[in-house]
Amino acid sequence: MTFNHPHILSLADFTPDDYNAVLQTAASFSDVLSRPTKKAKKLPTLQGRVVTNLFFEPSTRTRSSFELAAKRLSADTLNFAPGSSSLSKGETILDTAKTYLAMGTDIMVIRHKEAGVPQAIAAELDRLNTHVGVLNAGDGQHEHPSQALLDLFTLCFLLDPQSPRLELLSGKKIAIVGDIVHSRVARSNLWSLTATDCEVHLAAPPTLLPQFFAQYTSGQFQERPGKVFVHWSVEPALQDADFVMTLRLQKERMTQHLLPSAREYHHRFGITRDRLELCKPGVKVLHPGPVNRGVEISSDLMDDPQFSLISQQVSSGVSVRMALLYLMGGGK
Ligand code: NCD
Repeated sequence: MTFNHPHILSLADFTPDDYNAVLQTAASFSDVLSRPTKKAKKLPTLQGRVVTNLFFEPSTRTRSSFELAAKRLSADTLNFAPGSSSLSKGETILDTAKTYLAMGTDIMVIRHKEAGVPQAIAAELDRLNTHVGVLNAGDGQHEHPSQALLDLFTLCFLLDPQSPRLELLSGKKIAIVGDIVHSRVARSNLWSLTATDCEVHLAAPPTLLPQFFAQYTSGQFQERPGKVFVHWSVEPALQDADFVMTLRLQKERMTQHLLPSAREYHHRFGITRDRLELCKPGVKVLHPGPVNRGVEISSDLMDDPQFSLISQQVSSGVSVRMALLYLMGGGK
């Protein structure tokens, strides 16, 4: 198994082998975590290493999941929160990163509201020849690789828990419905899902899925095994879909009025039991969280284990993030 990514900043350069390395490694960690034992579920893999979470933007599950993943691998963890930090005293982001570097950080997990910040820090760390890895935990509207990888793991693990692999999605239809224009999760998922020959159907009102998303149906995307389709109504995306990924309306990123109301959005695009009748029998629904209950998905559907994979996504997150920390070099 080869995996040659000293940093994980984007899925654009991931190969099918990279995806399968992550899926297989995550499956073995998930196996360890699910063993019934009274002992602490810890592996010594990252003993003596320091994993620092630099989250310049709010997060519940991603930050906690990275912290637990690092702890399960016996790393020491540091957590940076902007509110209580020296950022408020005027320190730059790069100087904050260098402070954690001086404390012996081996891997930095970075989230920022601006696209490109993890890349900029990674470039500076490389220039300084530090061998410290950077993992992008969400940068603006650009990418959120670990979320797309945990989504992929959740789907492939459901299809074959013994051997989750990318090829299991071959021939499947996956609908992505919601605030696509603001979504780094959708952009990372577009890379991972088109790495095999499945169909990805995007659906949203035109204000949340502008014309420029047609670029995903042409150019370099045409060369990829998977195909992308764009719809401005939800029905054609849901028709015979195997999986439906819903996305939150990201009001904090909307600089202007893009929707008449959340109610109107739910009426036209909300994922409900009735709408799921259009899909294949056995369809499953995903959501990266946090969820606006009753807006992008009906509240009862979200809690129905027959359809919802939301809690599996959260559990998969820990195994997948353990795999990423391990594969980035922590396992050496
Ligand atoms: C997503 C994010 O922050 O990009 N959430 C997450 O990481 N679980 C999606 C969102 O905020 O809606």
